[in-house]
Amino acid sequence: MSDVIHDTLRRPLASLRLSVTDRCNLRCRYCMPEDEYAWLPRTSILTFEEIERLTGVFSGLGVHKVRLTGGEPLLRHDLSTLVAMIARNPRIRDLAITTNGLLLGKHAAELRTAGLQRVTVSLDTLRPERMLAFAKSARHADVLEGIAAARQTGFARLKLNAVVIRGFNDDELTDLIEFARAHDAEVRFIEYMDVGGATRWSRDQVVSQREMLDVLARRYGAIEPVRPTGDDGRAPAERFRLADGTTFGIIASVTAPFCRTCDRSRVTADGTWFLCLYAGAGIDLRELLRRGAPDEELASLIRETWQGRTDRGAEERLGVADRGALYRIESLRADPHREMHTRGG
Ligand code: GTP
Ligand code: 5AD
Ligand code: SF4
Repeated sequence: MSDVIHDTLRRPLASLRLSVTDRCNLRCRYCMPEDEYAWLPRTSILTFEEIERLTGVFSGLGVHKVRLTGGEPLLRHDLSTLVAMIARNPRIRDLAITTNGLLLGKHAAELRTAGLQRVTVSLDTLRPERMLAFAKSARHADVLEGIAAARQTGFARLKLNAVVIRGFNDDELTDLIEFARAHDAEVRFIEYMDVGGATRWSRDQVVSQREMLDVLARRYGAIEPVRPTGDDGRAPAERFRLADGTTFGIIASVTAPFCRTCDRSRVTADGTWFLCLYAGAGIDLRELLRRGAPDEELASLIRETWQGRTDRGAEERLGVADRGALYRIESLRADPHREMHTRGG
């Protein structure tokens, strides 16, 4: 076992989000509302071998939880092969994916066989016409098929993510709870965040955790918090239980950020390492990988950088007066690493 490495706020290096592509086959309004995007150059995208090697170095420094993200991770050709390569690392105890579900029906079984343990699917609305307006896609049925396939394949603790936006889907909270219950899944309602990419963000569109709980309590009666166990204490979602035992989560990154316990960092598809979802700049690990730096050099850089980490991005945003979108479109175009679809939501 490696020694646990802590940052300046005593937060361990434990969880890694690996974005495997910046491409996406949806255009969710809270993430990719624009018509055109600047993509990472193809030659800069890490190979599976490079990702495997990086994961090995991170796991040697204490990372035991890996989540594959995108863009849409299932757009990466032959993702199951990468899953199998990461799954054979015994230090990775939790290997999961966050997907929009469009291609999950096709790939769920092979991902499971390759060693993927958990799946989270984004499902913001149960109404196809809303998805068409909101994510510019008519493929709602494919998402439902993907969820069904994940269930049938037997992934543990299937989660559904719904970003709640006032005037769009805030009238679907109970429908989503009922849907999740019927599909043996847990829905998590996410406050709409002012991350890069969310160029149309405004405070009034955010439905707060408090408001969501009030609406649900009016419909279901008393709601109890679920006491976190194990790694859940560091997870972004607070979990709740209805009187009939149904559980759900709320990710209140806007009104109640979890920065104080945040043990996660993220690597983009081109090997740039970010210590926070809100960080202005990242560290180029690809350069070291490609110039043949030994593992120990990578490990030292990662260790020292983490030990100096001070990031509390979402908490700092709380103090911003006249809070609006984090970036304007010009600055996202100037550096696509600022995009949520590049840094892996
Ligand atoms: P679990 O391991 O199942 O708890 O996964 P997760 O909830 O960390 O992963 P998921 O990809 O489902 O992320 C859910 C949401 O959490 C995202 O959509 C973001 O809104 C939010 N989130 C993820 N990473 C961060 C982060 O680093 N900081 C903040 N503030 N929010 C994050
Ligand atoms: N606010 C909250 N969540 C977001 N995601 C993307 N953009 C935002 C945003 N502006 C989430 C998606 C998905 C995950 C990958 O990131 O809903 O669940
Ligand atoms: Fe939507 Fe995820 Fe694609 Fe962003 S990356 S547009 S949140 S599906």
